[in-house]
Amino acid sequence: MEKKNLDWANLSFSYMKTDKRYVANYKDGAWDEGGLTGDAMITMSEDAGVLQYSQSVFEGLKAYTTKDGRTVTFRPDLNAERLYNSAKRLEIPPFPKDRFVEAVLEVIKANEAWVPPYGTGATLYLRPYIFGISPVIGVKPADEYQFRIFATPVGPYFKGGAKPIRVKISDFDRAAPHGTGNIKAGLNYAMSLHAIVTAHQEGFAENIYLDPASRTYIEETGGANILFVNQNGDLVVPKSDSILPSVTRRSLEYVAEHYLGMKVDERKVKLSEVYDGEFKECGLCGTAAVISPIGQISDHGKEYTFANGMEEMGPVMSKLRSTLLGIQEGEIEAPEGWIYEVK
Ligand code: PLP
Ligand code: COI
Repeated sequence: MEKKNLDWANLSFSYMKTDKRYVANYKDGAWDEGGLTGDAMITMSEDAGVLQYSQSVFEGLKAYTTKDGRTVTFRPDLNAERLYNSAKRLEIPPFPKDRFVEAVLEVIKANEAWVPPYGTGATLYLRPYIFGISPVIGVKPADEYQFRIFATPVGPYFKGGAKPIRVKISDFDRAAPHGTGNIKAGLNYAMSLHAIVTAHQEGFAENIYLDPASRTYIEETGGANILFVNQNGDLVVPKSDSILPSVTRRSLEYVAEHYLGMKVDERKVKLSEVYDGEFKECGLCGTAAVISPIGQISDHGKEYTFANGMEEMGPVMSKLRSTLLGIQEGEIEAPEGWIYEVK
């Protein structure tokens, strides 16, 4: 397979139009057979449900080239399931999970020339999504929907790759109690845009959101879950009903326990524990972010710097990151069912 002539090692996390995308339409109560198209544009009613009431849900996953030249993807069955759950919460007809996985593999295959070569640090990012496409004027679900998956080659989500970032405790909430924080809906990201623009203007890479009910517990960032390593070397993972069930985080919990022999403690984490020095390392994790170390947390001028400071990733986060990447890139044997090969 001849690859595209791109400067793979210097890609940023941005959109690039690739050759093929998958499209299926939902009409008269059923999803059609769907298929690949070269057309990257969408034409829809001025009154489409997605445009009026933000009826849209999405996913994110990646394809990798392994050291021995195979093209693989990572746990697409979990993305299929999460999209299914997200859709149900927004009264969107869910896309069948087995068809989701097949479509992901089809899109990767059709864009194989865009899957970055092994060792470049870049990956092919897949963006599946479903949105209401038929007109809606009263507040109700649309009658018709479109499911799409496009692919775009990406580099690191944060400039500097695995260098520690500074984050702030947000003044805004990203989720409401009993709201939509636990699903991947566009609306959760729309409401985070003002917060992220503000954080960037103030020199922070991301926001940490606190629990919306008491503003006491750590939830997650705008685009990733959070991990801590405590002073005993255990992995501590914030637990909440209003955060996204990250595929990366769930995988890292398994890796920590079964590959690295660590104790994993999923529990509610108070912000005050950070300032009490409970944790020596902190990072955020997600498909786009992989693991990015958090060097410093700032809460209205009150700052906490983790043991490894702003220069390098701590040893535990580093080990977690290299083990996960090793599994994804085929250098470390994966648990059964985690790697799907594109043939
Ligand atoms: N939390 C939020 C809010 C996200 O947008 C993402 C990205 O998908 C994650 C967590 C990480 O989830 P995953 O590891 O499944 O990509
Ligand atoms: C992902 O990690 O796939 C996401 O969707 C995060 C997004 C904020 C880029």
